[in-house]
Amino acid sequence: MESHLKLIFSPEEIHLAVNGLASEIRRDYAGKVPLLIGVLKGSFIFLADLIRTLKMPLEVDFIRTVSYGSGDVSSGDVKITKDIDADIENRDVLVVEDIVDTGLTLDGIFRHLQAKNPASLKVCALVDKRARRELPVKIDYSGFRVKEGFLAGYGLDYNEKYRYLPGLYIVK
Ligand code: IMP
Repeated sequence: MESHLKLIFSPEEIHLAVNGLASEIRRDYAGKVPLLIGVLKGSFIFLADLIRTLKMPLEVDFIRTVSYGSGDVSSGDVKITKDIDADIENRDVLVVEDIVDTGLTLDGIFRHLQAKNPASLKVCALVDKRARRELPVKIDYSGFRVKEGFLAGYGLDYNEKYRYLPGLYIVK
């Protein structure tokens, strides 16, 4: 393992967190067929594990925004570069994010989706990173809370690196 990576959540801890989230979501959406919208690219592994753990009728779509150009500095400007394909009017929509930092991305996505009149709109984030929050976004389901630091692994990248790592690491 590269020396500037420090493990903060092991694959076992992630597995437990995903199980916990899936139980809550399964209970809250019982009898419904939610549409889970993964925010590309960072959420793809989390979403894949989450839906296999959920084991309930659901649909999947994806959205992509431009957030961090490279490195770890937020541009502050959220642009949707790939919109969802599904019609979400009157659907129960659950946005699946890898990590919420300033909240700008989630706020932009939330407002974009809300304008399409879903029946309900909630957010599930693997990591809620609090220290640099600029907008008070509501996260309905969160796996881990951390204060700060740049995380990589389990789908999350640092300049496109480390997505393949099975655990979550702090990049030092
Ligand atoms: P926000 O708009 O500042 O909340 O940033 C959200 C997006 O930035 C996430 O969807 C990630 O793609 C990226 N991001 C924020 N913090 C991290 C991190 O620690 N590691 C990897 N990506 C991050």
